[in-house]
Amino acid sequence: MVGIIAAMQIELDLIKSSLDNVEEEKHGGVTFYKGEYKGRQAVAAVCGIGKVFAALCTEAMILTYSPDIIINTGVAGSLSEGLHILDCTVAERCVQHDMDTSPLGDPVGMISGINRIYFDTDKYGADLLCDCYKSIGVRPVPCTVASGDVFVADEEKKAYIRDTFGASVCEMEGAAIAHVCYVNETPFVISRAISDGADGDAQIDFPVMCKTAAERSSKAVLEFIKRYGE
Ligand code: ADE
Repeated sequence: MVGIIAAMQIELDLIKSSLDNVEEEKHGGVTFYKGEYKGRQAVAAVCGIGKVFAALCTEAMILTYSPDIIINTGVAGSLSEGLHILDCTVAERCVQHDMDTSPLGDPVGMISGINRIYFDTDKYGADLLCDCYKSIGVRPVPCTVASGDVFVADEEKKAYIRDTFGASVCEMEGAAIAHVCYVNETPFVISRAISDGADGDAQIDFPVMCKTAAERSSKAVLEFIKRYGE
């Protein structure tokens, strides 16, 4: 079974409406949509915005459904000159850019306890997701995703995240989902289409581009559900 998590309804709409035999269930305060796509089992949820909502949704999904893999789909801000609005990305790894215990001597971004900065995505899943993008005529960009409880909309913050973590994409959930998946030994991947440049225009571009960008990622995710484990 493939688990799908999106932060916002608009990022899940196409996937949810494409599932057959949908059963709606609530666990841990999260509504899950369990169904099938082209005969393959899937469970999907809108987690809400930010790392805490993402984490609690991921934990509830894993405990209830034991998905073989979790895919985080949605939109993101670009931190890189080469990544434009509507470009699509597949994460190789992700990091929580707002995790900072550096005053205690730790490297910035390091998560104490598990003592790691980056979470690698599942190699099989990421390769398959790239193939799925290609099959719908999109060339995806492999990237490092930086997540934090911040909507990035200025050049200074953008440059800090890019330069500190080598990240080319920012959003608010992926690395929290990764953290929970890591603890639970569940493979995960992240599919994000660019809605804005995480710059001074981000608050204008984001609402305008969100739906179109989200649907580009969703189309690849639907392919992924169909092909995962083939
Ligand atoms: N998701 C989409 N655009 C974003 C941005 N600029 N910052 C954080 N999350 C985002």
